[in-house]
Amino acid sequence: MKKLLITREIAAPVIAQAREMFDVTVHEGGALDGAAAAQALREYDAILPTLGDDFSAPVFDGNLRCGILGNFGVGYNHIDAAAARAAGVTVSNTPDVLTDATADIGLTLILAVARRAGEGERMVRSGAWGGFGPKNLLGTHVTGKSVGIVGMGRIGQAVARRCHYGFGMEVVFFNRSPKAVDFPARQVATLAEVMGADFVVVTTPGGAETTKLIDADALGAMKPSGIFVNISRGEVVDEAALVDALERGAITGAGLDVYENEPQVPARLRALDNCVLLPHLGSATAETRQAMGQMALDNIIAWSRGETPPQAVN
Ligand code: DGY
Repeated sequence: MKKLLITREIAAPVIAQAREMFDVTVHEGGALDGAAAAQALREYDAILPTLGDDFSAPVFDGNLRCGILGNFGVGYNHIDAAAARAAGVTVSNTPDVLTDATADIGLTLILAVARRAGEGERMVRSGAWGGFGPKNLLGTHVTGKSVGIVGMGRIGQAVARRCHYGFGMEVVFFNRSPKAVDFPARQVATLAEVMGADFVVVTTPGGAETTKLIDADALGAMKPSGIFVNISRGEVVDEAALVDALERGAITGAGLDVYENEPQVPARLRALDNCVLLPHLGSATAETRQAMGQMALDNIIAWSRGETPPQAVN
């Protein structure tokens, strides 16, 4: 039996199926650091890793036993896929199955920030609510406003569809390559143009090409009434520049599901009332997480049969 390491506990039925086919170890104790990842690559035939595990280039040096990293997650910026390929390790991911859940979190954040739901919740829980008031916690309207999507991939399109069909919003988007979509949306040529929308939602993949794409200049192109949402990867945004813009009131608010150094969230950010801060919940529904586990395992099973894993990325 091939040895499979699952680096975090995932849905029980998926682990049970894995145990029928592999000699399975489920790692306890959180994410693998570089040393643990390097050791795992030497000890296991296959690994099912996830976000936070450190599979950067150096861990692939030397003689490896592992032939596949069947990543649990669509984003795999914690894996150096080119270094893996050079070392003979296939990498796969879990696209599509998490698109709707992640887009839903985007809408959750748009609405929560616009309607000051975080502040309202804190007010009620703290006992500070004094009753209905015509001017109590006035937010901003969402219906009919414009949304700018940064990165019109699967998740970007799912957010845009919800905004257009659900809230009658005008959709503009910025994407590296030309992109045709099947709903009304206008592709703009510059990042600055998309940042000028009423709501900006970042859905681009992480990785070297998008690191700090949203910098002080990009944030400077937002209007003071603008609301910024990030559901992609924390490193796509210059977090310090974002905090600065929020503190100065240069933008109205932000909804964040991801952070530059997860799980660290800067104290300055946590101190801001005009932010809704979620703990990387994009794909966190029971149904979606089970589907992600199943897809990651299916890729590993395909590899073990000598087939090309359907969601191979390298
Ligand atoms: C993803 O699938 O990329 C989610 O962000 C969880 O890692």
